[in-house]
Amino acid sequence: MQWRAILRLPIIRVASLACARRLDAPFEEVSPPPGVTIRVATTGDAPRLAAAMAGSEFRGSRLGVDDVARRFASGDGCLIAEAGEQVAYLSWIKFTDASMRRNGVEVPLRPDEAYIDAVFAMPSYRGQGLATAVAAARLTYLRDRGVKVAFGWVAPHNTPIIRVLQRAGYRIVGSISQLIWQVGSRTPMLNVVVAIDSAGADPSLQLCTPERVRCRTGLVIYRRRPA
Ligand SMILES: CC(C)(COP(=O)(O)OP(=O)(O)OC[C@H]1O[C@@H](n2cnc3c(N)ncnc32)[C@H](O)[C@@H]1OP(=O)(O)O)[C@@H](O)C(=O)NCCC(=O)NCCS
Repeated sequence: MQWRAILRLPIIRVASLACARRLDAPFEEVSPPPGVTIRVATTGDAPRLAAAMAGSEFRGSRLGVDDVARRFASGDGCLIAEAGEQVAYLSWIKFTDASMRRNGVEVPLRPDEAYIDAVFAMPSYRGQGLATAVAAARLTYLRDRGVKVAFGWVAPHNTPIIRVLQRAGYRIVGSISQLIWQVGSRTPMLNVVVAIDSAGADPSLQLCTPERVRCRTGLVIYRRRPA
């Protein structure tokens, strides 16, 4: 009875894995599926990007034309894959910040770091290696911009994006598990931030440490664990 009452509380559990990759480690280019081309998006693409995201089920990437224009103005990068006029894939990249604001997690980036933010393949283009090809193209794009380390947050159950990132040479270097009070807005109550020691040999890959991660609300527990 008591447990049932507890389970009815508006508390959700959220887990995020941190992935990281050095840009000076070698990688191979991967061809996109036939008929699809990959390029860097520009402000002129804003209406098409907004339209593509409006149709997406991926909440984090839904932005209007003004939001898209603001992202470009703030210096964010965007890679796009097209099949003729159709947007088949898009992904945003941030260069100053890897925060998950919705979950109250703040992570400023250093000047030579990047964060792969929203990644989205249109459903009819999934499972053909498109995200894998863009992940490789993104490495070239980031390296050419002088980036030394790229990070991403992924949900532990999102096998497709984990496979894509691992194939592109990313490693899981940490995690954040949260208990969040959700009534309308979200208020984290407990944040467990874990750095995985496999990355310890290379401190540049560490993201989930007290020096880097700030949680806006709730109790924060920082831990380390072996790989
Ligand atoms: C994640 C995403 C971008 C991958 O795009 P994609 O073009 O289909 O990716 P690829 O074809 O390059 O590779 C997908 C891999 O996941 C695998 N995969 C696909 N669906 C899967 C599933 N339900 N369970 C397990 N593996 C799955 C594929 O088999 C492939 O791996 P493999 O080549 O080793 O077999 C796409 O699924 C997507 O847009 N999802 C919704 C948005 C999202 O989750 N974005 C990431 C948020 S961080």
